[in-house]
Amino acid sequence: MKKYRTLDDLNAAGQTVLVRADLNVPIDSATGVVRDATRIIRLAPTMVELANQGARVVVISHFGRPQGHEKQYTLEKISLAFAHALNREVKFFPDTIGDGVRREISHMKNGDILVLENTRFYKEEEANDAAFAAQLASLANVYVNDAFSCAHRAHASTAGVAHHLPSYAGRLMQAELEALSTALENPKRPVLAVVGGSKISTKLSLLNNLIAKVNSLALGGAMANTMLLARGQNIAKSLAEHDMLDIARDIMTTASKQNCEILLPIDACAGKKLAPDQPVRMVTLDKLEADEMILDIGPQSITALQRKLTSCRTVLWNGPLGAFEIKPFDTGTNMVAQAVAERSTAGQLVSVAGGGDTVAALNAAGVADHFTYLSTAGGAFLEWLEGKELPGVKALLLQRA
Ligand code: 3PG
Repeated sequence: MKKYRTLDDLNAAGQTVLVRADLNVPIDSATGVVRDATRIIRLAPTMVELANQGARVVVISHFGRPQGHEKQYTLEKISLAFAHALNREVKFFPDTIGDGVRREISHMKNGDILVLENTRFYKEEEANDAAFAAQLASLANVYVNDAFSCAHRAHASTAGVAHHLPSYAGRLMQAELEALSTALENPKRPVLAVVGGSKISTKLSLLNNLIAKVNSLALGGAMANTMLLARGQNIAKSLAEHDMLDIARDIMTTASKQNCEILLPIDACAGKKLAPDQPVRMVTLDKLEADEMILDIGPQSITALQRKLTSCRTVLWNGPLGAFEIKPFDTGTNMVAQAVAERSTAGQLVSVAGGGDTVAALNAAGVADHFTYLSTAGGAFLEWLEGKELPGVKALLLQRA
């Protein structure tokens, strides 16, 4: 039995369809120009399919974290970027619920797309207020959730509304769920997870969930330094969480009991300052000088990971391996990502990446298009990696076909 309905199960012709999208995109605060339209572009398949079928498409989304009605968080400008990405006319209405919205919808023709104002202008949205969810639902006769990247939020527009209308996963939601399940629930083995980032403390549940599921876990970034220190290795002045050493040891013990191999850097690109144009040295960890820091994985670690990849069938990637925003500390991330991209393109590997800085790092490495799947989600991707149930997905599962 299917777990959730998709657009394959919907005849949208003549229906008013409420689509929860994620139009929460980065904008230039001075000009209001969208800096990265990836999320908007990835919504196109659902929008075009529904509009072409003759639905009246009413799009709802949050943008930013406004405290009430803060005008700078309007979706008006973003709806222009949305129209541009879809290459279609998209109308905007400056409210989210109520008679004005209802009137505007009554004037829509089949195939029209309308974006409503930021759902978070109403405090009832984040409170998942039942009456607010019912008001949203009353605008349409079908609900499509295409916002996997908001599925970790139990809000009225992401979860509550699904209790009032027949609910379907949009094409982007469907693609995300299929890719993530291919990578972690039914993966081709061996599976390698590459996890970078600065703090073990923020990724504890994620690490514990992954070691139970993957064959190897490669760590980079400052979180690897904490593991190295816990193993008694020299990390000199490198950033580490000194209060997490016992927990780091516990993770390594559990990993070994579960036959998950933990791969830590064996050498480093080391420097005395985290700043551009500073002298760096490629050294094995025992050669680190007291005033040096590990700022990226070194060439031997890169080669070891590239070699590991040749025996893997699935790679799950979250977080950069070094301080990738500053050159040359992006080298480890770039070179390992290139190897993943090459093997993915050659059909030897399924690669899925997402969360926080990951997409930015892979875009900077020029390989984003060559991964099998790149998630549009930040926090939702991380919570899914933690093995948590996502309320936005759960709400769709309630509506069994
Ligand atoms: C995101 O950018 O991860 C989503 O749009 C969710 O935004 P939020 O963290 O403000 O809920």
